[in-house]
Amino acid sequence: MRSRKSGVGILGMGVCLPEKVLTNFDIEKMVDTSDDWIVTRTGIRERRLVRVDQATSDLALPAAKGALGQAGVSAEEVDLIIVATTTPDMLFPSTACLIQRDLGATKAGAFDLSAACAGFVYALNLAYATIASGQYKYVLVIGADALSKMMDWTDRSTCVLFGDGAGAALLGPVPGGRGVIATHVGSDGRYAKQLMMPAGGSRLPSSHETVDKKLHTVKMNGNEVFKMAVRIMVDATRVVVQKAGLNLSDIDCVVPHQANLRIIQAAIERLGIPPEKFMLNLERYGNMSAASTVVALYEAVEERKIQSGSKVALVSFGSGLAWASCVMVW
Ligand SMILES: CC(C)(COP(=O)(O)OP(=O)(O)OC[C@H]1O[C@@H](n2cnc3c(N)ncnc32)[C@H](O)[C@@H]1OP(=O)(O)O)[C@@H](O)C(=O)NCCC(=O)NCCS
Repeated sequence: MRSRKSGVGILGMGVCLPEKVLTNFDIEKMVDTSDDWIVTRTGIRERRLVRVDQATSDLALPAAKGALGQAGVSAEEVDLIIVATTTPDMLFPSTACLIQRDLGATKAGAFDLSAACAGFVYALNLAYATIASGQYKYVLVIGADALSKMMDWTDRSTCVLFGDGAGAALLGPVPGGRGVIATHVGSDGRYAKQLMMPAGGSRLPSSHETVDKKLHTVKMNGNEVFKMAVRIMVDATRVVVQKAGLNLSDIDCVVPHQANLRIIQAAIERLGIPPEKFMLNLERYGNMSAASTVVALYEAVEERKIQSGSKVALVSFGSGLAWASCVMVW
């Protein structure tokens, strides 16, 4: 059992971003849009795309290796692997099992978690609970998506928003007073149809008709999702900071899901937290779904926006609708 005095936190992180860059100017040549429209409405300038022969696990594996390397923990010591993804390599087996195999994490359990863009923070909160309860010591949490493979590249209202990437964090014991201090998750399935990929599951299995109707691509009601996203970002931040016994002014860095700069700006206004405390990188990557928050967290540490002792809030939302937030002391 873990000593009651120790905490549970992130021991190491890794990321993997595809080499191919797709700029707004490239997209101008594909659909009726402009760099100006995309930047003004979303804040995104470019995003990364996997190659045709790459899948989500090809991004997740190097990110996982990076996290283990930074933590100085071997794959054989990992107890559990959770891959948060909406774009698994295939419906089954889980992408987590492929990662378990390729890492040689011989004693680890492994499963995928489906909470779309909120997936990494969902998985992190779950990993925290399994370690805090004394069940496990080391849990590898990966947020990885290759949404470019599920895009309708003729639909300008969605194809400009997303990009591919992966990030991983190894959770384990940390000194007391450090690590996760509060978690929060929520969902509202009444909004399920606002952001979905209709076909490919048991409701609408693949058929010529589903392919012809492009039902294997992302469908979204952008306006509805936008309004809900702002509300969720604000509420999920407030709730988790309160659970942590802190005030919003105590938070040193907020790492939000990177969907749209205007969503984040609206949340900043409503929360009254200074904008410079928010980590932003969506300009370079777009919305990388489950990878978004973890890559932003990694870069916030690299850029020293987060330092030892910083109080950090992660907040994410996505299709479901589903959302998750957490507060940790770095
Ligand atoms: C998608 C989104 C950027 C659209 O921005 P918006 O300001 O709401 O724009 P609207 O949907 O009101 O569309 C305004 C016009 O721009 C057009 N438009 C949409 N995408 C466009 C594009 N890429 N380029 C140019 N015009 C575009 C629309 O067709 C519409 O034209 P119309 O007025 O002639 O009908 C915005 O709603 C959004 O970001 N929503 C949240 C999406 C999200 O975060 N999803 C992931 C959640 S995890």
